[in-house]
Amino acid sequence: MRVLRRTLGTLLFLGAAVSCAASPDADARPGDGRPAALAPYAQLLPAPASARAEGPGYAVGAGTVIRTGPGGDEEVRRVGELLADQLRAPSGLPLPVVDGAGGDGIRLRLDAGAEVTGVEGYRLEADPGGVTLTARTPAGLFHAGQTLRQLLPVAGPGTVPGGEITDAPRFAYRGAMLDIARHHFTAEQVKRYVDQLAQYKVNTLHLHLTDDQGWRIAIDSWPRLAEYGGGSEVGGGPGGYWTKDEYRDLVAYAGERYVDVVPEIDMPGHVNAAQASYAELNCDGKARERYTGIKVGFSSLCVGKERTYEFIDEVLGELADMTPGRYLHIGGDEAHSTPAADYAAFMDRAQQIVGRHGKTVVAWHQLATARPAPGAVLQYWGHDRTGAAEKAAVAAAAKAGHPLILSPADRLYLDMKYDLTTKPGLAWAGFVPVRRAYDWNPGTYLAAAGVPQSAVLGVEAPLWTETIATRADLEFMAFPRVLGLAELGWSQGPADWSEYSRRVAAQGPRLDAQDITYYRAPDVPWS
Ligand code: ACM
Repeated sequence: MRVLRRTLGTLLFLGAAVSCAASPDADARPGDGRPAALAPYAQLLPAPASARAEGPGYAVGAGTVIRTGPGGDEEVRRVGELLADQLRAPSGLPLPVVDGAGGDGIRLRLDAGAEVTGVEGYRLEADPGGVTLTARTPAGLFHAGQTLRQLLPVAGPGTVPGGEITDAPRFAYRGAMLDIARHHFTAEQVKRYVDQLAQYKVNTLHLHLTDDQGWRIAIDSWPRLAEYGGGSEVGGGPGGYWTKDEYRDLVAYAGERYVDVVPEIDMPGHVNAAQASYAELNCDGKARERYTGIKVGFSSLCVGKERTYEFIDEVLGELADMTPGRYLHIGGDEAHSTPAADYAAFMDRAQQIVGRHGKTVVAWHQLATARPAPGAVLQYWGHDRTGAAEKAAVAAAAKAGHPLILSPADRLYLDMKYDLTTKPGLAWAGFVPVRRAYDWNPGTYLAAAGVPQSAVLGVEAPLWTETIATRADLEFMAFPRVLGLAELGWSQGPADWSEYSRRVAAQGPRLDAQDITYYRAPDVPWS
């Protein structure tokens, strides 16, 4: 692996060198104190598994078409149309999508026998005759298209430099989480985030739909959850909720970008909004007041009451019915008001219910202290000060076959402040500058605790919203740190901050062009 990585590094370096000779924007400027601009193949983020710049490239111009044949695969056609949309705005070109593989242009080639790795891998080849994207699946073609976007200028027509990329992800699960419970965000706002993430090959959106402060998803069999429990948020604002159609529409929109949605109903704690909506969900039969503060750990479903399990069954059943992805997330964190034995008994039944609805459980890693069901995935959110016993429980679960999603709070929690100047955000896990979010290895992160690399399903960057209420603040906290998540999830590594930070800087104009409100963090060498 080490040798391979070094080889890849050399290829990238050579690619940069070759492109430098061919590309006017890549001139080194010795003496002005700034690092030379990176050549296009060396700018890609996430970095591809291998890239080689060679020879003249393909000029995308007024006559360029996007070819999605042969065979007329409907999904490939859709991927082609989406790519055309994404390329039209910056290039100002018409870029019609046509059937048929022959001829020049941008060709999307679905080939079940292609020599690419896995379901998301792809190859990209560019020469004066055109650009060919090859993959075994439409998802691979989509990712190839996102790479192609980064090989073209931020604005105006341009030339895809000659060369070849062979690429595939390091981890199957590359996620971002958004908490729409503490503050309500609309489905349209979340679509924008999906677009921002999918271009960097993030393939999962975890939606934290419910918490003490608000219930954000309509459930037909328990209508007051959304209608009443949705009417609050942190700080006393009006809150809100998504109808089932809005949720389905978001899920479909994400799916077209090869982003799976993982919905979370957090339980048995973090349930005050439900307990305010229905008195029967409380052991004492009395409805709670709605809550707009930011304390945690005070609410618990009534573990001994059969009605609690009817509630979970109906809620998770409706959610499973409108979620095509394989996972349902049932929270399980910070259940400080649920005694340990009750917690374990409750999680046993909640996991069975998820299974009965045909889904796989995801839960925060506290489930490791109870009895994770076969196949359950644990999401680790500890940090440098997390105790050995807690890590040992996670390691035991990992060794017993439970896949782990890593979301270390002091690395990937996007609600942690960058530094002293950050206005939104919290700091209980410390500051998380851009470098800290990136400069670690998910494969070995919990190795000292005994977690084998093979247990790591992937990485996820959660964005909790106790202090985040606007699109601008969401983007400011996510960008550019979420690029680190994308890079760690996709690229083979190893982490090299100085090289990576230059690629982040190279994304600056692209983030600007997309009107993304990002932090021009001082540790990144922005031009
Ligand atoms: C969490 O941050 N309570 C998962």
